[in-house]
Amino acid sequence: MSFQDKNNSKVIVALDYNNKEDAILMANTLKPSLCKLKVGLELFVSCGPSIIKDLHTLGYKIFLDLKFHDITNTVVKSCLSASKLGVWMINIHSSGGKNMMVKSKDEIVKNNYQTLILGVTILTSMEENEINEIGYSCNIKEQVLKMARLCYQSELNGVVCSTKEAKFIKSEFPEDFICVCPGIRNTENKSDDQKRIATPKLAAESGADYIVVGRPITKSDKPLESLMMIKKEFDESKII
Ligand code: C5P
Repeated sequence: MSFQDKNNSKVIVALDYNNKEDAILMANTLKPSLCKLKVGLELFVSCGPSIIKDLHTLGYKIFLDLKFHDITNTVVKSCLSASKLGVWMINIHSSGGKNMMVKSKDEIVKNNYQTLILGVTILTSMEENEINEIGYSCNIKEQVLKMARLCYQSELNGVVCSTKEAKFIKSEFPEDFICVCPGIRNTENKSDDQKRIATPKLAAESGADYIVVGRPITKSDKPLESLMMIKKEFDESKII
């Protein structure tokens, strides 16, 4: 499978559904030339790997967002199984440590998979008091940068982070170290459970390489129009 990015869209739509019918309906409403799709835990646990095959058949590139976090051996094997599905991108929790990250990337390369592997830093649904509560003593920015450094040293392809931290990450690491940013909202959207949010324009200005957008598109009355608006705002702000 060629990973050449024909459409080059920087918008990744999160297909957060618990059944195949709704996911395929949304995939058919959107266009593979305008976005990539993210399959997360809810959809993957509900439908299994066959959903990936179905979305590939429709022409989409897939970010399989399962955020692996386990002992090294288990994560490495899971990364290989995910890569075998032919997905474009996968991710693992950087809090699983450097050894887990280094070995996962190593095995992907050794097995000739072209899957991009990212490290999750701090979830965009978390705030300062919550990260302190689980034992991180730094503030969010310092903690995210610490984790991003580990991901970079482990030779991962990039990180998942909020737009707030993307600008610091983009200034510290080489341009090709990818920042994928969730928590995107238009000013009129509600934030749902996301705490560290930004508009597509702000995300572009912060240096986000890709934005992950779920509910502002999938819960919109006109998903395709919403996707096109978000893509236009992001692309135009990237150029300026
Ligand atoms: O609906 P919404 O736009 O909030 O969806 C964001 C998507 O990005 C969800 O699928 C969520 O699991 C994912 N995500 C996130 N924060 C991260 C990593 C992934 O919101 N740090």
